[in-house]
Amino acid sequence: MPSAISIKDLVKEYPGVNAVRNLSLEIKEGEFFGLLGPNGAGKTTTLGILTGLVNRDSGEVTLFGKDVEKNYVEARRLIGLVPQEFNFDIFEKVYNILDFNGGYFGLSKKERAQRIETILKDLQLWEKRSTPARFLSGGMKRKLMIARALIHHPKILILDEPTAGVDVETRKSMWKYLQKLNKEGTTILLTTHYLEEAEFLCERIAIINKGRIIKLDNKQNLLKLHGKDAKLEEVFTHLTTNDNQ
Ligand SMILES: Nc1ncnc2c1ncn2[C@@H]1O[C@H](COP(=O)(O)OP(=O)(O)OP(=O)(O)O)[C@@H](O)[C@H]1O
Ligand SMILES: [Mg+2]
Repeated sequence: MPSAISIKDLVKEYPGVNAVRNLSLEIKEGEFFGLLGPNGAGKTTTLGILTGLVNRDSGEVTLFGKDVEKNYVEARRLIGLVPQEFNFDIFEKVYNILDFNGGYFGLSKKERAQRIETILKDLQLWEKRSTPARFLSGGMKRKLMIARALIHHPKILILDEPTAGVDVETRKSMWKYLQKLNKEGTTILLTTHYLEEAEFLCERIAIINKGRIIKLDNKQNLLKLHGKDAKLEEVFTHLTTNDNQ
């Protein structure tokens, strides 16, 4: 059984920046995995390579054995992406944004209608289906991005800071929903700057800094690094501020 996500010796440079440096990572099917790191660590670049938005310089990246460049179409279908920045048409209605995306992935009109209703109800956005996206609150826009990512039943859900600017209550309801998806079998890769979010949701966590992994372990072991009752935030701060490489 291949890994859900397999990254080997991944390298990506921009002029003057080594954004990703020999990064290797295996994520198994069904995992809820956290990718943490300070601003500019290379998280979004790595996720961009996984989803075919950014071309790697070298290395191997496969999703369930499919190479993200050579088997782009098959690999892309396996992923639902929630990008860091809002990138939907703000003048379009919520329903249509999902409908277009479902069409892009080849769902029939009937399938799309059923799927959109289910997802929007799950995310408490059904009442807003006829509202243009620009009239949604910030938290609702984040939920719309999650809804759009899920339209084609992806086996892997990749979330790049999905709860940035989301209030505590809404964030908790999003956590519950993500846990439900994970229990139903979706492999989840999450980046976040809310360390309590990673601590709550993720089983294994990789901390990356300056384009490479400086620590990868399960949550329990990471928390033990800093003694009894440590919070992930303390461990994270210690590791990233003492990284001189
Ligand atoms: N298209 C690009 N052109 C040039 N440099 C880029 C480009 N995209 C990213 N970089 C650089 O690569 C590095 C990694 O950026 P990246 O967006 O992957 O970081 P990140 O870990 O997602 O950070 P954040 O937490 O702030 O979102 C940064 O130094 C960034 O300036
Ligand atoms: Mg980023």
